[in-house]
Amino acid sequence: MIETIDNYLNETEINNFYDCLKHPSIPWFIGPDHSDSTIKNKSFVKGFVGREIDFLVNDFKPVGDLYKKLNHLGPLVKIHFNLVKPGDKFDFHTDAKGMSVLVYLNPVWKTWWGSGTQFRNPNKVVKPKPGRAIFFSGQIEHRCIAPNLLMNDFGRLSVVYQFGKN
Ligand SMILES: [Fe+2]
Repeated sequence: MIETIDNYLNETEINNFYDCLKHPSIPWFIGPDHSDSTIKNKSFVKGFVGREIDFLVNDFKPVGDLYKKLNHLGPLVKIHFNLVKPGDKFDFHTDAKGMSVLVYLNPVWKTWWGSGTQFRNPNKVVKPKPGRAIFFSGQIEHRCIAPNLLMNDFGRLSVVYQFGKN
């Protein structure tokens, strides 16, 4: 199953995610635009598993609050942040064996930037929209579609919570 829920996170909740992404204890960097970014034209991907998940959920309120809304879905196996730049390419893949929940975290999104999450069987593309969540079975093959070259912002940012079987 693939279900889309708009405004799953509101504007404040999205912005709070950015505050934790900027936290110095996490070794990543997201520039405000391409010219400032040290990871030009490279997607930024970070997956958290095991104890790192506990750290994120306990120490970062937005991450923990979102987990509280989702924890009925089963054991949390992975939290995955994706920052995708124009030109990046991705293969179809599956996630963990339970449900996956992807939330688009860009505070602003223009439709002409393209991008989305593409599913195979059923064949479907869910476009980015701030705060939009996609609930899907992790075993449905899917991939990220990068934004096009018209995107003049830092990239397509999403977070995925992957759950195992109950
Ligand atoms: Fe995935």
